[in-house]
Amino acid sequence: MSEPTSRRAVIKVDGLRKTYGSLVAVANASFEVLKGEIFGLVGPNGAGKTTTMECVEGVRRADGGTIAVLDLDPLRDAAQLQPRIGVQLQQSHLQKRITVREAMHLWAALYDRPAADGDRLLAQLGLAEKRDAWFMTLSGGQQQRLFIALALVNEPDVVFLDELTTGLDPQARRAIWDLVRGIRERGKTVFLTTHLMEEAERLCDRVAIMDSGRVIDVDTPARLVSRHCPDRLVVVATDAADAAIRFGSIPGVSRVNLVDGRYEIEGQNDDLTTAVIQCVSAHGMRVSDFRAVTPTLEDVFLALTGHSIRD
Ligand SMILES: Nc1ncnc2c1ncn2[C@@H]1O[C@H](COP(=O)(O)OP(=O)(O)OP(=O)(O)O)[C@@H](O)[C@H]1O
Ligand SMILES: [Mg+2]
Repeated sequence: MSEPTSRRAVIKVDGLRKTYGSLVAVANASFEVLKGEIFGLVGPNGAGKTTTMECVEGVRRADGGTIAVLDLDPLRDAAQLQPRIGVQLQQSHLQKRITVREAMHLWAALYDRPAADGDRLLAQLGLAEKRDAWFMTLSGGQQQRLFIALALVNEPDVVFLDELTTGLDPQARRAIWDLVRGIRERGKTVFLTTHLMEEAERLCDRVAIMDSGRVIDVDTPARLVSRHCPDRLVVVATDAADAAIRFGSIPGVSRVNLVDGRYEIEGQNDDLTTAVIQCVSAHGMRVSDFRAVTPTLEDVFLALTGHSIRD
């Protein structure tokens, strides 16, 4: 991926604020989504992700701040903008007895501009055989895939996906991730929300970490981890003589502990794992177990907010 700064922002949110009565759902959210990236709004239940996304889509009116999507105002320029975006809502329902094909036709009829090839879209999403099936007979994963198909019916430039893999098993989740990557491959921009840190880490080019209505930080998952959780740990089981001394002399290593016959090597070197492997190899050490423990976005969230995302 090229450096984000050289790419055009298709969504610009600055100082967004949204209240429901006395409840401040979004206190102050600022971020940009760049053309052709998968951007994730990540945070726990109630963080304000859906509210933020709905303001960006023009479904809700913000109380403060500015929003531009494709250089348009989502509310004032709704008529111009709506044909260019695709939306999959968090809680989508269709009539029980509408068929997949009928739903696709219904959605396509909402747009003036030439619709995507519905049959091709269904085939790409693995729904070709379900074309004549009733909505209520589809599995959860198939329903999600249909909602993605509906969000793509108008060949949108920007696709909004709200918690699209919630409730799916790991296999169906992976299949959906591949579909979302496919949307990016077609040159579209994807703006999604998730409370699953693993999903954000595996799928998103960049993420905004959100908690209690605030965007706390925005960056690539790797850079967030590197900036906020610099500690690395490599665990090696070896009976080689002088192992402790050798590990201790690796650049960047701050501590070596021997616990239950395993050396725990700690340091703030992003390349600690490589350095340990090189050390093991250079001294011909016999190793019976090896494990690198790399922090994840969950650790980043904990470091930034002081609480776990699952609390
Ligand atoms: N229509 C509404 N009326 C009143 N309060 C609302 C409304 N919608 C959301 N809220 C409140 O605003 C806050 C943010 O909700 P929001 O749905 O944006 O969170 P979220 O990050 O999408 O959560 P989740 O992960 O559960 O989907 C919550 O405290 C929620 O209860
Ligand atoms: Mg939500």
